[in-house]
Amino acid sequence: MNVIAFLSQKGGSGKTTLSVHAAVAAEASGERVCIIDADPQESATAWASAREAQTPVVATAQAGELDAALNAARGEGMTLTVIDAPPHAAPAASQIAKRAEMILIPVRPAAFDLAAVPAAVEIVRAAKVRGAFVLSACPFRAPEIGETRAALEPYGLPIFPGEITDRRAFARAVTTGSAVTEFESDGKAAEEIRALWGWIRDALKR
Ligand SMILES: Nc1ncnc2c1ncn2[C@@H]1O[C@H](COP(=O)(O)OP(=O)(O)OP(=O)(O)O)[C@@H](O)[C@H]1O
Ligand SMILES: [Mg+2]
Repeated sequence: MNVIAFLSQKGGSGKTTLSVHAAVAAEASGERVCIIDADPQESATAWASAREAQTPVVATAQAGELDAALNAARGEGMTLTVIDAPPHAAPAASQIAKRAEMILIPVRPAAFDLAAVPAAVEIVRAAKVRGAFVLSACPFRAPEIGETRAALEPYGLPIFPGEITDRRAFARAVTTGSAVTEFESDGKAAEEIRALWGWIRDALKR
């Protein structure tokens, strides 16, 4: 079973949005997917409650319960677990990072998000886990996108070559328990998410 986590210390960077969307896209590509909601705010759990479909399965687990949740997911024959990490929680973030094969760090192209990047990179390095950046909620074709890429490059981690644009469809999906690939599967948002999942999947194979 592959284990990935969306992690950043910055609140609202897009962890939950990307976790549930990556999970649904992975499932559509044939994976059996579990989301572990490791955030006491339980946003991914709320998404699952609003959802009609029974999958992907969402399990709530605080940091101390991670091993049990991961073992349960393995026991259920899951092929991928996506951990949605909490913001502002360094000890929990480290415990998550140690259990993941790959940490995806969502970064909005904004100064406050960039300021939070060193903390996430430090967690990735300390856990000796693979890390990568995903540009999240980007204003459409804005110059900040390129500037943010340039600011991230010195950290030496891969950067998802696409970007996730700021689109109402993403916000709507999360509040209605769905995913953009489900209600607008031909749309640009769905295309971005499929590209993201494809990139993660290829990275996991390497
Ligand atoms: N690509 C996007 N397009 C539009 N809205 C977005 C996008 N990504 C995130 N948002 C919105 O930004 C807000 C924060 O997103 P989200 O909850 O995914 O972030 P988070 O990192 O999980 O936050 P927290 O740190 O509180 O857990 C939400 O209202 C969400 O709908
Ligand atoms: Mg969240």
